[in-house]
Amino acid sequence: MIQRPRRLRGNALLRKMVRETRVDKSSLVYPIFVREGRNIQEEIPTMPGQYRYTIDKMPGKLEELKKAGVDSVIFFGIPEEKDEAGSGAYAENGIVQKALREAKRQFGEDLYLITDVCMCEYTSHGHCGVLKGHEVDNDPTLKLLARTALSHAQAGADMVAPSDMMDGRVLAIRNELDEKGYTQVPIMSYAVKYASGFYGPFRDAAGSAPSFGDRKSYQMDFHNRKEGIKEALTDVEEGADLLIIKPALAYQDMIREVADLVEIPVAAYSVSGEYAMVKAGAQLGYVEEDRMIAEMAVGAFRAGASVYITYFAEETARLMDAGVIG
Ligand code: PBG
Repeated sequence: MIQRPRRLRGNALLRKMVRETRVDKSSLVYPIFVREGRNIQEEIPTMPGQYRYTIDKMPGKLEELKKAGVDSVIFFGIPEEKDEAGSGAYAENGIVQKALREAKRQFGEDLYLITDVCMCEYTSHGHCGVLKGHEVDNDPTLKLLARTALSHAQAGADMVAPSDMMDGRVLAIRNELDEKGYTQVPIMSYAVKYASGFYGPFRDAAGSAPSFGDRKSYQMDFHNRKEGIKEALTDVEEGADLLIIKPALAYQDMIREVADLVEIPVAAYSVSGEYAMVKAGAQLGYVEEDRMIAEMAVGAFRAGASVYITYFAEETARLMDAGVIG
């Protein structure tokens, strides 16, 4: 008998009927940049269509997301001042803490608020922790990360997402949250996070490029697979509730492996460079933006992600509405 896989491709309704990967908007998370000041919405030069919002401007964007069917956001803060110890990260009146209070006040339970927990946007040197000489000092950094996560929870964060890649941070944060009564706040850890050129535009957006050296002593070498699995398993053991694989596009093998291996949900983060690449290509007329967005999103889900963090969240939702993906 001749096998005829093409029999399933000739009819549009049938193609849809037999789709293996089904996606919906509830899986989407939008990263939002908040900054100090008033009445400012400034475009990020390397991420056309993405902005830094002051807190008075932020609700308009959140409203727009909700209208599009995107109910979850992850906050990134851009403080006015940075210092050696990144104190803006855990300040009661830090930018993310203020944004959380305002978002909770205006949207209550209608929006799910996640925060990125890291030091690099707040340290004068741009590294993800406090320094000893030219090295990030792991253990003292854990205390500050735990303090940051707690301050986010106190300000209304529904979930915290540590992205620093220090050893032991999930446990340190879990202990701190539990001790202070935030036992119900889940931790979504950036477990498999590679040292990547794809973060370039984010570092422009947040002004968080390291002032010397790089992040290779704490973020992962992109040649490594087993190391990623080890990171994932360690974070599960320490009490992570969800794991992030990041970037998404060049790391779909890791999404698949980790999703198959662990018993908790996996999120794929399509990072700033992925966004910038699509935007630039589309502006030059080299690629079709919507088709790229669709394939990147479905690729992450097909690989096993159940959550997809993307600057294209609204566009992805629109493509789902239009039935292009879904
Ligand atoms: C903070 C952090 C970064 C990203 C998320 N959290 C930057 C980095 O590690 O340099 C990157 C996100 C993106 O590129 O979209 N550590």
